[in-house]
Amino acid sequence: MKKYKVAIVGATGAVGREMLRCVIQYHFPFESIKLLASARSAGKTIEQDGLSFVVEELTENSFEGIDVAFWSAGGSISEKFVPYAIKAGCVNIDNTSHFRMDPNVPLVVPECNSEDLKWHKGIIANPNCSTIQMVSALKRLDEEFDIERIIVSTYQAVSGAGVAGMRELNDQTRAIINNEPVVADTLPCASDKKHYQIAYNCIPQIDKFDLANAFSKEEMKMVNETKKIYHKDIKVNATCVRVPVLRGHSESVYIETKKPIDIDKAFDLLAHSTGVELVDDIANQIYPMAIDHIGSEKVYVGRVRKDLDNDHALSMWVVADQLMKGAAYNSVDIGLKMIEMGLL
Ligand code: A2P
Repeated sequence: MKKYKVAIVGATGAVGREMLRCVIQYHFPFESIKLLASARSAGKTIEQDGLSFVVEELTENSFEGIDVAFWSAGGSISEKFVPYAIKAGCVNIDNTSHFRMDPNVPLVVPECNSEDLKWHKGIIANPNCSTIQMVSALKRLDEEFDIERIIVSTYQAVSGAGVAGMRELNDQTRAIINNEPVVADTLPCASDKKHYQIAYNCIPQIDKFDLANAFSKEEMKMVNETKKIYHKDIKVNATCVRVPVLRGHSESVYIETKKPIDIDKAFDLLAHSTGVELVDDIANQIYPMAIDHIGSEKVYVGRVRKDLDNDHALSMWVVADQLMKGAAYNSVDIGLKMIEMGLL
């Protein structure tokens, strides 16, 4: 089997660390792994599964001889450096939002639209974390019942805001317990004007607002990316909320379908969906919770129930480790799928 020279860009970040773990633990066939980050991290050592790596500074020349690069260092970094990687002949799987809605770039969740990998031109975009777990959970239901509309509310962990988001929740919680002043300087959005306390709180803003339509950028990602992945004009209404959870996004998802819902069939489809695990036994108070699925590559679905008034509607609770299925694992899975399809 061919082995690949791999690079991970943003390797010191919350997602980058998981990308390294996924490359190794999910057996991506690597010959070498080059870890790239900013000049601040150059020379740092990162250990994973008994292997030791020295972080290098990302430069325009980092991609000579590299076959495939996984990117998670922010949109502006991908915008600037991916073209150099393409010139060097490297295939790029990008976890930032920069290329996602580019019509020349496939946006892929392998179990939903792997066929789109066939028309890539050197970049494959990894969707937003909240979108991935939702479209993965709903894929088989859409095939069977034809979803017309999704209404989703998210409960998103602070690790979605990187290492800084996790530090902020921990520091604020410690300050509250010790009766010290609470400092807020990262959430809801590091570059925005105001910051709010996340410890013991929920913040109904993730990313900046579009004042023209009153939705946040995160919400619009769920709207637009779902249409692109499903290749249909599906209606999506999203409310994205940051909650004081360290890791793992949860979503309350309501769907309306063209065909009436057969609830037994829905359970059966969810029990047999690729990458999805049904965790639903309310008689025994069993349902998915973020805290139970840290580090897992799967999407967990529970609280599945038909709407009381509408025969064409169903609600469910969807949980995933957004650093894994929502980012690192999905990226590595795209690479593995490309190898399987003879595209890498
Ligand atoms: P560094 O640790 O050197 O700053 P997170 O958002 O989880 O903190 O991760 C951001 C990732 O992006 C980190 O690996 C960070 O590296 C990397 N990064 C940030 N700025 C740059 C840059 N200018 N060049 C390369 N990597 C960068």
